[in-house]
Amino acid sequence: MARRPAMPAIAAALCAAVLGLAALLGGARAQQLSPGYYDASCPHVHDTVRRVIQEARTADPRILASLLRLHFHDCFVNGCDGSLLLDETPTMRSEKAADANVGSARGFPVVDDIKATLEHACPGVVSCADILALAAEISVELAGGPYWRVMLGRRDGMAANFDGAQNLPSPTDPLDDLTQKFADLGLDDTDFVALQGAHTIGRAQCQTIQDRLYNFSGTGQADPTLDPAYLAALRRRCPAAAAGGDGTGLNDLDPATPDTFDNSYYANIRCNRGLLRSDQAMLSAPEEGAESTAPIVERFANSQAQFFQSFVTAMIKMGNIAPLTGSMGEVRRSCRVVN
Ligand code: HEM
Ligand SMILES: *[C@@H]1O[C@H](CO)[C@@H](O)[C@H](O)[C@H]1NC(C)=O
Repeated sequence: MARRPAMPAIAAALCAAVLGLAALLGGARAQQLSPGYYDASCPHVHDTVRRVIQEARTADPRILASLLRLHFHDCFVNGCDGSLLLDETPTMRSEKAADANVGSARGFPVVDDIKATLEHACPGVVSCADILALAAEISVELAGGPYWRVMLGRRDGMAANFDGAQNLPSPTDPLDDLTQKFADLGLDDTDFVALQGAHTIGRAQCQTIQDRLYNFSGTGQADPTLDPAYLAALRRRCPAAAAGGDGTGLNDLDPATPDTFDNSYYANIRCNRGLLRSDQAMLSAPEEGAESTAPIVERFANSQAQFFQSFVTAMIKMGNIAPLTGSMGEVRRSCRVVN
């Protein structure tokens, strides 16, 4: 009897602790990203990033595509926290060493240039995660695509996640695995199809399509969903390994307008001219769920305005994946190492 009152007291203490935790989590969630995050602390951040990218672009037109891809690969691993940018250390494997990135992800020196310029203008203020988000929007805009107000206020993570990067979407993943990887991060089928439209710019190496050209699913034949004329052209660019092909040749992801951000990527797919298996699968893999993605491909092929609108919505959603805010993480001085 004497002990009885103790139980409710413990329960009450536990509840208080739980409530306290809920308040903390609620507080963290309330710290949201906003377009004006640097208005006072680094007012010219957008112009500064844009100027560095414009300079880089004169020597390397492909840089726009490469920077756009970096934001995607950052956000899909540990959220948009700049973890992709961390170099290898004796105790930490870099995400740059993961299959999807090694010999493929590019643009890191330009990110360094942007960071150095910003550190000069507003030291210790702009995170590397935000630099990637800004660079993605500016790159889309410079390539002729839509403009949007980038949400800002992310902070940088303290560690890379190599295993997470090994799980990045692969062009050989079945369509339903790909849509699931996006759904796991809160991105629906419309977001998925719209974000794939980023392949309206940039290049892919022959090794990413070699199986489609010569030995699809071990059949010894080409992928039957490839347009024959397109197949012939790709085979000329990407000789078989037996004929000396080393797999590093480059192909336009959008053969119609390779450096312009437009909706021709979807028209290509309609003509069986999607470069990657994962591009074409959205229309041509009914057994993997293409019945839900195919109408969206059609819609975007018919309306660039609808593609642009959905792309902007999806980019903002992707940029909002698990950001570190408030006092979480840090603002790195160099994007390659934690402070
Ligand atoms: C199903 C999901 C995706 C898969 C399987 C995929 C796969 C690939 C592959 C294999 C390459 C060529 C890499 C190389 O050969 O070095 C590539 C390039 C590219 N990807 Fe994706 N991707 C996906 C989604 C996205 C998304 C969501 C974006 C951005 C929003 C994006 C943007 C790009 C860009 C711009 C390039 C060209 C990069 C350059 O030229 O440097 N991709 N992608
Ligand atoms: C095609 O791939 C299969 C399975 O991976 C393999 O057994 C076969 O030897 C390959 N054929 C050619 C012509 O390379």
